[in-house]
Amino acid sequence: MMKKLIAFVVMALPLFAFAQKDIDQRVEEIMAKMTIEDKIGQLNQMDGRRDLEQIKKEVREGTLSSIMNIVDPAVTNELQRIAIEESPAGIPLLFARDVVHGFNTVLPIPLGQAASWDEELIEKASRNTALEATERGIRWAFAPMMDIARDARWGRIAESFGEDTYMAGRLATAVVRGYQGNSLSDQTSMAACAKHFVGYGDAEGGRDYNTTSIPPRTLRDVYLPPFKACVDEGCASIMTSFNDNDGLPSTGNRWLLTELLREQWGFEGVVVSDWGSVAGLIPHGVAYDKRDAAHQCIEAGCDVDMSSRSYLLNLKELIESGEVDMAVLDEAVRRVLRLKVALGLFEQPYARTTEKSDIYSESVLATACRLAEESVVMLKNEGEVLPLLPEKVKRVLVVGPMADAPYDQMGTWALDGDKTHTVTPIAAIREDWAKKVEIDYIPCLTHPRDRSTAEFARMQEAARKADVVVAFVGEEQMMSGEAHSLSSLDLQGAQGDMLEALAEVETPLVTVFMAGRPLTIARQVEISDAILYAWHPGTMGGKALANILFGEVSPSGKLPATFPRNVGQIPIYYNHKHTSHRAKGTEGNLDSIPREAYQSVMGHTSSYLDVAPSPLFPFGYGLSYTTFELSDIKIEKTAVTPDESIKVSVLLTNTGRREGTEVVQLYTGRKTASVTQPMKELKEFQRVTLGAGECRRVEFEVPVSRLAFHNRDMVLAVEEGKYTLTIGTDSQTGLKTYFKITK
Ligand code: NOJ
Repeated sequence: MMKKLIAFVVMALPLFAFAQKDIDQRVEEIMAKMTIEDKIGQLNQMDGRRDLEQIKKEVREGTLSSIMNIVDPAVTNELQRIAIEESPAGIPLLFARDVVHGFNTVLPIPLGQAASWDEELIEKASRNTALEATERGIRWAFAPMMDIARDARWGRIAESFGEDTYMAGRLATAVVRGYQGNSLSDQTSMAACAKHFVGYGDAEGGRDYNTTSIPPRTLRDVYLPPFKACVDEGCASIMTSFNDNDGLPSTGNRWLLTELLREQWGFEGVVVSDWGSVAGLIPHGVAYDKRDAAHQCIEAGCDVDMSSRSYLLNLKELIESGEVDMAVLDEAVRRVLRLKVALGLFEQPYARTTEKSDIYSESVLATACRLAEESVVMLKNEGEVLPLLPEKVKRVLVVGPMADAPYDQMGTWALDGDKTHTVTPIAAIREDWAKKVEIDYIPCLTHPRDRSTAEFARMQEAARKADVVVAFVGEEQMMSGEAHSLSSLDLQGAQGDMLEALAEVETPLVTVFMAGRPLTIARQVEISDAILYAWHPGTMGGKALANILFGEVSPSGKLPATFPRNVGQIPIYYNHKHTSHRAKGTEGNLDSIPREAYQSVMGHTSSYLDVAPSPLFPFGYGLSYTTFELSDIKIEKTAVTPDESIKVSVLLTNTGRREGTEVVQLYTGRKTASVTQPMKELKEFQRVTLGAGECRRVEFEVPVSRLAFHNRDMVLAVEEGKYTLTIGTDSQTGLKTYFKITK
C-alpha cells in the first residue's frame, strides 16, 4: 500500500526549496506515466462538503486534484492516503480553503487591515494564519483579494484593501509573503491566490457579480497593477473573476489569462477559475453548454476548473476530436503538478503535526490584537473626550448591539473562527477596566437590524447617570461579503434612533462602528463627540478597542476608502481625474437654488445640487490622541530622469502630549499629459512613531518608474514634464513641492 509513496520519497530531491529545473524535471517524469484521464483529473477541483464516501470514490478514481473546505486533518489525511496509495497515478491531493483574514484566530477584515497601512504587521499576521491553517492540512489559500473597491455598496469591499491601486499592491504582496513564507515547500507555507482577475470590484451599481465596463487604459493603470505586483512577488496562483468586462467573462478571456498574464508578465503559476465560473460562460451567454465552456476556458488559459466539472466531463472528447490540442491540456497539468511538487506534497503529503499548536496561541492572538488596534480609525474626538482616563471618567455606560456580538465582529469569511474565542468590547472592558471604572451595560438592541425602541427610556436614564456613553453600532457579519451588497449604507434597524436618543442626553457620546464597509454616517458624526471606526476587527477586536478607548493605545488607522456623505455620491474616490468642469467646493444645497433662474449657484461645474462634491472623510484620513505637524519639505533634485529616484524628505513633529504613530503619505500628480490624469496618486507611505515633542526627518525615495502610466499610444511609460508632490497625513492636505521629469 505504501508502495507509491515510497517510490516518490526515494526519488525525493535533497532539498525542499526546490530549484525550478528540478521541479520541471520531476513534473516531466510524473507526466510521462499519466494517462489522459489522470491528466484531466488534475484539473478538477471540488468542494469537500459532500458525502465523504462519494469523495473517496472520486479520489480513488483519480478524478480529483484538489479539494476545498475540509479542515479536519483526520479526514484530509485519509483522503490523501487514498490518493497516494489507491488512485491510478498516485498524485497527492491539494487541500484548499478561503483563508481570507486569519484562520482560527480571525484578523480584522482586509479593509480593516488596510487601515493599518502596516505591511510588516500584515505579513506577520498572515504568517500566523498560515501556521494555523497548515495545521489543519490547508496548503492552498484563496487570498489575497486585491480588487480595487470604490463602491461601498459592494459587499466584498470588506475583503479588499480599499480604493487605491498602489496600496492594494503593497498590502496584497505582504499577504503573499506571509502565506508562502520563505519557501512553498515548507510545511507551514500555503500557496497564495491573487484574486479576482480582474475588475470584479467595479460591478455596476455595486451589485455583486454584475457586469463591469472598465476601459483598457483604466484596466491597466488601476485594476491590473496589484496583480502584477503579486506575480512579481512569486504568488503561486491566480483566480479568475466572475464578471464579464466589456463583453468577455474573465474565465474565458485568452488575452487576459494567456497573452497578458503569461506571455507579457511571465506568470508561471496556476490559474484557477472562480466557483463554477467555467460553466458560468453559459448564463453569461457566450457558451452553449459545458463542453463549449470547457473548450473556451482551457484554451484561454484557465488551468483548474473549480467545481463545475466542465473539464472533467468534456476535455477527453474535446481532445480526441482534435478540437483541443493535447499540448494545451499538458501545459495546464504541468502547472498544477509544478505547484504540487513545489509545495513538497510528494514528500510530505499529510497535514503538518506540531508539538505545540499555533492555533489560538498567545503570540498569534497578540499579533491579531495589534493589527486590530492599528486598524481602528478615529474620525472625531471633540473636546478630547477620548481616551477615557479613569482619573476623568468614573462611570461608563456601554450600549449597542455590537458591544457583545462575538460572531458578527469576526466579519465575512470567518469560516474557521470559533466565536467562543472572540473577545468582545464589553468582555474586554469588564475584564480590564471594571476595577477602576464603574461599567453599566445595556445592549438596547439585540442585533443591528433590531427595530425595537423598548429599551430607549431605560438607556437614557442610565446615560444621564454616566460620565460618558460608549455606543457600539454597525453591521452584522452577513451584511457584507460575497453576494451581500446593499443599496443603502445607512445604519440599520433602530441604531440611528438609539444614537439620537443618547444625543438628547447631555452625557458625552462616543460612537464605535463595527462594519464591513464605509457606512453613510454623516448624522452620527454630527451628534457624537467621538467616533472610532473599527470595521469588523476579528477575534481580538474587543480587546483592541478597550485598549484604545481607555488610552492604553493611541489610534493610528487611516481610511483606505473614501467615506461618502450619502450613497448617491458613489463611486467616490480620492484619485479621480481632472475634468474640464472641476467641482466647486460649495456645499450642495437645494434651498440655495433660485427659482426660475437659468443657472444654479454652482455654475457649470461637476457638482451635485443637493450635496457637496467632497467626501465626508477623505482617503488617508484618521486622527490620533496626539497631534502631528509636517514642516520643511525638501526635495533633493527638482529635475530627474525616468531611471532615477525622487528623493524627498519632510520634518514630522509630534506636537502633542503623548506618543503616537502617524502615517505619512506621499502623493504625486500632474495636470498636463498625453491622457487625462488623476488629480493625485499615492506613491509611498510610512508609519512613523514619535514620542511627545519628538521630531524626525522622514525620508522617501520613489523610483520615477512608479509614475508610469499608459500613454496615448497605450504604452506604459513615464512622461516628461512638471509634477506636483504632496506629503500629507491624508489625501487632501499636505506640503507641496514640484519636480520635473526630463530625459
Ligand atoms: C467564490 C468566491 O468568489 C471566491 O472568492 C472564493 O475563493 C470561491 N468562491 C471559493 O470559495
